[in-house]
Amino acid sequence: MDILRSVAHMQSHADAVHTAGETVALVPTMGALHGGHLSLVDRALEEADHVVTSIFVNPTQFGPDEDFEEYPRDLDGDAKKLKDRGVDVVFAPSADEMYPHHDNSVRTAPLAWVDVDEYNDSLCGKYRDGHFRGVTTIVTKLFHACKPDVAVFGQKDAQQLAILRRMVDELLFDVEIVAAPIVREADGLAMSSRNAYLSDEHREQATVLFEAVQQAESAIQAGEQDATRIVRAMQNALDNAPDARVQYAEVVDSRTLVSIDRLEPGQDVLAAVAVFFGDTRLIDNALVCAP
Ligand code: PAJ
Repeated sequence: MDILRSVAHMQSHADAVHTAGETVALVPTMGALHGGHLSLVDRALEEADHVVTSIFVNPTQFGPDEDFEEYPRDLDGDAKKLKDRGVDVVFAPSADEMYPHHDNSVRTAPLAWVDVDEYNDSLCGKYRDGHFRGVTTIVTKLFHACKPDVAVFGQKDAQQLAILRRMVDELLFDVEIVAAPIVREADGLAMSSRNAYLSDEHREQATVLFEAVQQAESAIQAGEQDATRIVRAMQNALDNAPDARVQYAEVVDSRTLVSIDRLEPGQDVLAAVAVFFGDTRLIDNALVCAP
């Protein structure tokens, strides 16, 4: 397995694969890999001849008060996991490679952005100003660097996935987006690199996120169409955690992310929650088709 650091080397590798008539699947990550990330790698191995995993903690998707500096970094540990899994190439560029033409040492803003308007205005976008613009910009750059035929993303970040699908569609990217299901710990907590920040007490309480989205899923499957009642069921579940500070509990259309009052039969909806325990922000969701 090769670890490539430069965009030029990454592009040459992708060109060589394509010249040989073979395909590349990309799994973009920010590292600190867990079972959720590795499930995307497994999916990517099924989708293409070669798998590239990118590891880059992208500064432009973190707000000024967010955890960019503290975000866990473990390239050696990650590389070992990826090698064992059968990945061909790890693309681990520096900030200067991904954001040329501006001074990364002072985290100035780049000039060139890719943005998907409106989709930023719901769910996490309301509270994380500029976050998704950072995501769409870096994913565009990763696509230019890695030239994938397929890119695999997790349903865990449902809004990110919907925004990237729209970006690829609207901007005519020649990349197939594949979604992989949420991987959970034994007690239901969705795997996340940020779970490591939780105290033991908060880690125990954090199972309420899964309970909340399960409540929503059951209500929808039982025929509930009134979104207010579905949200109430989620809030009741979240109330069971004394230290949870709920940022949102919402039901939206899974494709457009627009908030829903009444579910239509056959509509694919997302029941989504964001909750703080101390400074740690956790998200979860269920993707449900209304009967
Ligand atoms: P990161 O948080 O490292 O996640 C990388 C990928 O792993 C995303 O597609 C995410 O949805 C997926 N993932 C995370 N936890 C998961 C879980 N429990 N089950 C299934 N998939 C899971 O998402 C990002 O990085 C960044 O925003 C990125 C797309 C790399 C751009 O910087």
